[in-house]
Amino acid sequence: MKQKALGCLALLIAVPLLCGGLVFAFSEYQIRRVYDIPAVSLTIPADEASLARGKHLVEVIGGCPECHGYRLQGRPDFLNVPLIGQIPAANLTPHQTGVGSVYTTADWERAIRHGVGHDGRALIGVSSSALQHLSDADVSAIIAYMQIIPPGKREIPPRQLGLLARPFILISLLLPEAENDIMPALVIDHYASQPPAPEPGITVAYGRYLVLLTCVECHKADLGGGSEPGEGMNITTGGNLGHWTETEFIWAIKTGRTPEGNSLNVTYMPQDRLRHLTEDELKAIWLYIQSIPPVVRERAPGQ
Ligand code: HEC
Ligand code: HEC
Repeated sequence: MKQKALGCLALLIAVPLLCGGLVFAFSEYQIRRVYDIPAVSLTIPADEASLARGKHLVEVIGGCPECHGYRLQGRPDFLNVPLIGQIPAANLTPHQTGVGSVYTTADWERAIRHGVGHDGRALIGVSSSALQHLSDADVSAIIAYMQIIPPGKREIPPRQLGLLARPFILISLLLPEAENDIMPALVIDHYASQPPAPEPGITVAYGRYLVLLTCVECHKADLGGGSEPGEGMNITTGGNLGHWTETEFIWAIKTGRTPEGNSLNVTYMPQDRLRHLTEDELKAIWLYIQSIPPVVRERAPGQ
């Protein structure tokens, strides 16, 4: 009897220890793993139109200032949670305290589209799951713009990961690719060649391109949204948008007011940034939404 009890006790201690050890070993491997990503050849433009495109991509479509803070000078406390750790968002400016002072074109490309830092290691908390879809021309326009932003002095401390960050790295592997905002480098296909961006215009193809870059991370790949607060609502024609006109859709994004009379909760929906999408871009997104299957998630039992 006594032996059996001791055996059970040993199991009770050994199993969690083993699981903990495995999570630790897996996360340690992923944190230390060095990605060897071949540099793509990019031509960095210098003309006014490309720089303006770069600014629009940085500020509106890529939302870099939302995480990298005022004038992209970095945020020491981007994420600071006891036991999970402190993950600052880098100072991107060309000041000597910023990564812009040392970054090569290849470094920028890897950080933005692959979620991999200048040391070859996976970045945490970046939005490369969305940004991986940037075309060569668009990522080049972003890099061009980053080179003309004013330098800003701001020392950013190094990343520190707590013990509780480790299970999240494992969870990140289980997230759908489009929603992996923990360690996107884990799930991105680093060897896929980038299709050219569809020509900007009011077309389904360009609408899809914009949606992949700006909406899918919250509204999910099928745009059917999720059930948690902060996960976007259903924006297919199976939801409220089935009753909206194009004008009402544009109005909703521009003003934050829906035809149902609701105000969008701007804590979760970045309407203040997205209202700067151009009318043509919103028309393209609207066309794309019309072209995809409606999702009727609310009525599905058990969800
Ligand atoms: C969702 C928040 C978020 C968005 C949006 C975002 N970043 Fe970041 N970025 C971060 C965080 C957090 C880090 C630091 C990650 C780390 O240290 O593991 C980072 C790091 C970086 C780095 C430094 C990599 C290194 O070598 O240390 C670069 C460069 C970068 N981001 C560029 C950009 C650009 C350009 C954009 C817009 C196109 C952008 N980021 C959008 C959160 C974000
Ligand atoms: C950071 C997450 C996030 C991103 C990115 C995002 N949304 Fe949202 N969106 C939300 C959330 C959360 C809501 C629900 C807001 C509320 O509860 O008021 C929402 C609501 C909406 C609604 C209102 C739906 C309704 O039935 O009232 C529309 C339309 C919408 N989003 C369109 C878009 C489009 C188009 C994009 C891309 C250009 C986008 N969103 C990007 C999070 C996001």
